[in-house]
This record gives sequence, C-alpha cells and structure tokens, in this order.
Amino acid sequence: MKPIPYYSHWPAITSAIQSTTEETIFVDRIVEQMTLEEKVGQMIQPDIRDVTPTEAREYKLGSILNGGGGWVNDDKRASAGDWLGLLDQYWDALEAAYADRPFRIPYLWGTDAVHGHNNIYRATVFPHNIGLGAARDPDLIRRIAEATATEICVTGMDWTFAPTVATPRNLRWGRTYEGYSEDPTIVYHYAGEVVRGLQQSAEALKTDRAVLSNVKHWVGDGGTRHGIDRGCNHYDEDLLRNIHAMGYFSGLEAGAQIVMASFSTWEGEANYDHSPDDGVAFNKRLTGSRYLINDVLKDRMGFDGLVISDWNSHADVSKCTDNNANYAINAGIDILMATGSSDWRQVYWNAVAGVERGEIPMARIDDAVRRILRVKFRAGMWDKPKPSQRALAGRGDLLGCEEHRAVAREAVRKSLVLLKNKNVLPLPRTKPILVTGSACDDLQKQTGGWTLTWQGSENTREDFPGAKTFADSAREILGADHCAVDPGLAWANPQDFDTAVLVIGEDPAAEMFGDIAPGHSLALSEIKRKYQADLALLKRLKQAGVRVVTVLYSGRPLYTNEEINHSDAFVAAWLPGTEADGITDVLFEPGNGQPRYDFTGRLSFSWPNRPDSEAVNAIPEHIPDYSVPEEEQDPTGEHKPLFPLGYGLSLQGESSRLTIDLDRLPVSSGSMAKSDAVAETLELFGTRANGDFNLMLSTRDDSNETPVSSNQTTRRDGVTIVPIDYRHQQDARRVAVESGSAVVRVAAGDSQGYDLSEYAGPDVVLSIDIRLDSDWPAGSRVAIDGTSGTSGYLDVSNYLPNEPMNDWVTVRIPLADFGLEADALRGTVSPVRLEIPSACRFDLGDIRWAVSEQH
Ligand code: BGC
Ligand code: BGC
Repeated sequence: MKPIPYYSHWPAITSAIQSTTEETIFVDRIVEQMTLEEKVGQMIQPDIRDVTPTEAREYKLGSILNGGGGWVNDDKRASAGDWLGLLDQYWDALEAAYADRPFRIPYLWGTDAVHGHNNIYRATVFPHNIGLGAARDPDLIRRIAEATATEICVTGMDWTFAPTVATPRNLRWGRTYEGYSEDPTIVYHYAGEVVRGLQQSAEALKTDRAVLSNVKHWVGDGGTRHGIDRGCNHYDEDLLRNIHAMGYFSGLEAGAQIVMASFSTWEGEANYDHSPDDGVAFNKRLTGSRYLINDVLKDRMGFDGLVISDWNSHADVSKCTDNNANYAINAGIDILMATGSSDWRQVYWNAVAGVERGEIPMARIDDAVRRILRVKFRAGMWDKPKPSQRALAGRGDLLGCEEHRAVAREAVRKSLVLLKNKNVLPLPRTKPILVTGSACDDLQKQTGGWTLTWQGSENTREDFPGAKTFADSAREILGADHCAVDPGLAWANPQDFDTAVLVIGEDPAAEMFGDIAPGHSLALSEIKRKYQADLALLKRLKQAGVRVVTVLYSGRPLYTNEEINHSDAFVAAWLPGTEADGITDVLFEPGNGQPRYDFTGRLSFSWPNRPDSEAVNAIPEHIPDYSVPEEEQDPTGEHKPLFPLGYGLSLQGESSRLTIDLDRLPVSSGSMAKSDAVAETLELFGTRANGDFNLMLSTRDDSNETPVSSNQTTRRDGVTIVPIDYRHQQDARRVAVESGSAVVRVAAGDSQGYDLSEYAGPDVVLSIDIRLDSDWPAGSRVAIDGTSGTSGYLDVSNYLPNEPMNDWVTVRIPLADFGLEADALRGTVSPVRLEIPSACRFDLGDIRWAVSEQH
C-alpha cells in the first residue's frame, strides 16, 4: 500500500459530493418555512423500541434507528417483508405529518450494518474489520460494501453506521475487531473504499441501490488509555490527526455524508477551551467538543454533511443530562441518538425550550437542519418511494445470496494469517481428521459481536440459515465418515487420528463487554476460566501424538505462546462470519478442478509477546514508520511483538524470517499477582464479570431454566427481567416477580462447574449489589450449588434490610455461613442461587465472591 500523507494541520477535504445551486435553493426553501418544533424533530433519532409511528408523526421525527438486537416486532427472524412493513408505517406516518404543510420531509432509517447487514436474519455475515485488515485488499473492501449496500436496500433502509475507522492501539479494547488495523495506512486506504462501495457516486446515491455511509467514531476512539472503551484518548493533536483521523480524510473525500461522534474523551490541549468548570478530563467527551466537531471537522475540514451523537452519548457530557442535550447541540451535534436511558421526548422539549431561552442560538438549529436536509437531498429522499416500493425492496433472492456469500468466502480466505506451519498444511482430503475445540461448531464464536444481537450472544444455529461452521465445511470435504466432530473431545479417541484441527477462540462481545481490564491477562486461557478447557484439550492431543492445526477465532491478537508451542500449525482466523468454507479452502488440498489457494493474509496488528502488556503495539505512541528499525523506535524492546505487523507465512515461496523457535516460546502468566493463599475476587455478574458465568431463571415449581437475556426482556410465568444500567450500560437487571416464584441462579459456563475450592477460606464473602423496590418476601433464600449438591439455604432477610430503598446497597454474606468445605467447591455449578417465593421487585447489580479487605 502506498504511504499515506502526513498532515501538519487539519486538512481541508474536497468531498466527491458537492453542493449544487439546486440543492441549496431546495433546502433553504424548506428550512425557511419550518417551525422550531419541526426543526428540532429532525434532530432527534430514537430507537424503534422506544417510539411508535404515531409518535414519529406527532414529533415529526427526522430519523429512526434500530440498534444492535433491535428487531421489528421484537422478532429476531423477521423477514425483509416484516421490516419493510414497519419502515412503511413510519414513512406513512411522516407523510401524514406534513399533509397540511406546503412541504414534506421524508425520514431516514439507520442501522449497524458493520460486517454485512448483520442485524437481519438470512443476511450474509462478512468477517469483522480486523480480518479484512489482514487481507490488505482495497478492491475486496469495496465489493463487500457494495454487497452490504444491496442487502440493506432489500430491507428499505437508508443509512449504515459504518465504517468504523478507528485505529485501535491497545488490544485490551473490546472494539479492537471493529478496526482494520493499528496502522493508519490501512485504515486510510480502506475507509474511502467502503464509502464508495456503500454510496457509489453522487448520482447513484440518489437511487434506491445505494445507502448513506457514516464514518465513526470521531475521533480517537481507538487510542484510549489502557484500551478502555469510552475512555480517554491521550495522544497529542499531531498524533490524533495522523494516527486516529486518517480514515476520516479518505472517507470524507470519498463523499461520506455522516460522521458519528465518539463516546470517548480527548485530553489534548486544544480541548481545554470548554467552560471553566469542565476541568475534569473525563468530562471532555468528544460529543461535547466544540473544538473537534465544529472548529476542526466542520470548519477546517469543510465537512458539510451531518454529525450524529452516539447511543445516548450526550448524557456523558458534563454539561448535559440524560434528557438535556443542549450543550452537545451547541458543540455541533446535528442529530441526537436519543436512546437508552434518555427519554427522547424530554430531549426534544429541552432543546425547544433551550432555543426559546436563548441558550441555543437559532442559527445553530438552522445549521443542523440544513445539514440534515442536505444529506437527505443527496440521498434522493424526496424522489424515493416508500421503502417497500423501492427497486430492491423485499428481494429475498439477494439477502444472503450465493454471490454475496462467495465474496464473504473470498474475504475469509484472504483474512487468514498463518503464524506457524511445521509441514502439516495443507491437509489431505483423503485422510480422516478429528475436528475439535470449543469453536469448531459454534457460529457465535465464528461471527462475533454485532451479529443479530448487540453482543453476538444468545444466537443459535437456526438463526443462521445457510451458514457453515468449520465443522460443517470440513465434514463436506472429507465426508461424515472421515470427519469426527467432537468439540469437547467427549467421545472420540485421539489415538485414532493422525491429525486434528482444533478450533478455539473468544466468546462474542461488543463494546465495553469485550474489554480486558488493565491488570488482567491477555493470555487466551486466562481471560476466562472456561477457556482453559481448550488448552487442556490441546495438551491431550499432543500427548496422544496427534498433529494439531490450531485455528483461532478472536477479536484481536492474544498472547497464545503456549497454544503455539503445542500446535504444529497455527492460524489466526479473526471473526470470519458465516462462511467457513473460506477457511477449509486454504487449510485443505484443493479438490478436483479447484484452484489452489495459499495464505495471503498478513497481520494488521502486532501480536503480543507478553500476557501483561499494556500497550502491546510495537510502536505505541508514534506514527508508525516501519522503515525505521524497530530497535530505534522501541529501545528497551519492551513492546517488541512476538510477530510484527505485516507478518504471515505462505505455503509456497517465502517462509518465515523469524529466528524464534515456535515450539519453545517462553510461557508466563499474566494473571494478577497472587500469593498462594489468596485467590482473586471472583466476578460473577455485573460490571466486571467476564462472561464465565450466566444468569438463569426458573421457578420453584419448574426447574427448567431460561437464560436471562442481556439485551431483551426475559419473561417467564409471572416473572420479567429487564436489562438496566448500573455502573455502565446494561450491566444490571431489573427483576419483577408479579406472581408465582422465581429462582435466579448464577451458573458456571462450563456445565462441569469450576474448581473454586481456593475460596473456601474464612475471608471470602458473597457480595451482592441490590436495590429493593418492594418488601422482601418472607422465605427468600440463598444457597450455593457445589459438587455434592446444594448447600444449606440461608434466609436472605438476615443479611438485608427489609424495606424498599432508593439507593443500591451491598449485601455481604460470609461464604463460611454456607457451611461448604473446600471439597464441595471443587465443581461449583452455581456460586449463588436466589430463591424468591412470591411477589417482589428488585434490581440486581454486581455479584462477586470477594476476597479479604476488598469486600
Ligand atoms: C441496544 C443496542 C445498541 C447498543 C448501543 C444497546 O442497549 O440494545 O441496540 O446498539 O445499546 O450501545
Ligand atoms: C455504538 C455505535 C453504534 C450505536 C448504534 C453505539 O453504542 O458505539 O457504534 O452505531 O451504538 O447501535
């Protein structure tokens, strides 16, 4: 790829889409006639779960979104026709809204189509951006975007919140996989291609075959300290521009019409010109940065499209609240994604009142509305028929069609990075193979976050018609007789096989739920307890003398020295999506008449050499200049990666230039330093829980369990459980037992349970953050399910004040009170079980087994 420009100042960008006189006259004529309320209506974007078509009409809303896991009729498997039906209802409502006006304003529908049209049943699911970064193929990127645009058009939507042009610089960040590379060169060369693929050209954008592109999240989301999601970017302005903003330069040049402001904060000097009481760095959210939004993006860079805030992000700006976004509007936000814990109606009324009080200049509102209408004009909204009448609407033959799946398969193939190969690849098609590992037959691990649901969890196989797991694809090639699929190695005998393919990987996650907190290990087997099972399996295979090809699904490079040592070949496959044929295409010898594919993927992120690395990138704070020898950039060698950016082997030709012995890499633990006696606090549920445990609901009369959803309302008999925000988004649950009883249990993700015997000491307490909204019913009990059944039940009222409360309290129950010996904790399946016999309402926050002083 060509080197990228260096910018000593924020550059003026010439967009591929320019204003015309016709556009200006058209937009101005409408704006002149609009009332204040009509203008503010354009600026509010609620989620479909919070707004009816009638309300859209009443408030004359300008746009609607469906966030991740927001579906029409709350139906994950809704068809394109179902979606169109709902889109039409809003369309008709908004047409009716202007029936008595001399003008009309069509609305826009936004969605997160970030790796294909991923929120829609049957859509093609492409690899996440991290894999595409490894492919180093801008033309492929454009074709993926084109296919995605087509699938979006099938559902009649207008705008995708893509691409993410973050340049992630710390692998702890849960959103690393949404970025193409730590290297701004790749981000720069890709961003423009995605925009061109989605919008095509100024003319095509007006047709119903293209969609609006939205570069996000402005700016520096990938550069937060410790990789904390929504955290604080500490790069100086020069690096902010040259590392973190490169995707905007090419994206806006290609004509992107929308920019989404970041949740994150920027510490840089220039941002200190906010109000005097804005002194706390954490309050200088991008969403409230007049400097970066208004002065830089709009004025200096000349961006004339619209800026949208992120999911309820105005609420994090120090001068805003959930329901008052006026400060963010003044900073330059044109559309407020007024969702989550904010009530969009209040945001609307506060903005109207803000203008009336002179708090928001009318000129700012007019500017925002002009931008919104301009973008709508450029998208041809006044000429487009209602969603169901558009050219591609309802074309079921295009959603997840063969042609798009072929592009996805190509992308998977090109994204694979071969890190090690001791003459074991390619695999023959004629010899029996054992296919194993937690991810070998798991579409959730394969597709990652932002897939049908926000987190990419809570999906089943039936949610993905036509998709193939690795096991499916291998079985097709080898024939069922020659392919033993046994994910947990429960029945197959390793000795029967010469070769195994072990597919392992991270669970899906989105946003902050994917963060690896500072101080926690970057070693795959240490991120979650349950991940240890895959490593144990690998060792079993090795001991049995089986040759192992390990395929890793992950949202980032991870410390995998031990796994690499034990593997004969090791492939980084990222989050490939629904088309696993792209993996077997390269892993196996070609079949008759098939082309021979080689590994062409090259790392777009450096691979960590330490499980405790803070900044794992080779060159953490500098504009990468890979022409300068590494030693000069990182004199202490502390950040030297195991595999550098650009590394990747092929089967033919060039082999590794590395001098390290990939059978004997040093192995160290990145777990928080612990003395032998003291275990670390075990996070069971809530803000810091890592997904090792799940919340389950049953009743006293029916022990069949329902998993409690982290995104949707869970209903069962007389009980409802809703996700709510406690310390961060959706980290808590509101439980309402209206009738009958409820049994709420924290369940180990491994059905065998976990060995928690180290917690048997006297210093451990079960700690539960709770807020009661009713009396606590008599007979409420708590217990632990260990190896030998359930402990004695304790009466909750002995530990908890029995009255409704406004604030959260932490209930602490010494583990010793449960009377379980260390042995009984060896196979703990539920570290807490709560039984509520009758009606009750409460909020459940963080739950943990806390050790010693840190209670
Ligand atoms: C919503 C998702 C949304 C996400 C954004 C969740 O609460 O359910 O639809 O995409 O928030 O952070
Ligand atoms: C994410 C955005 C996304 C939005 C809507 C936010 O939480 O940060 O990337 O577009 O939700 O779902």
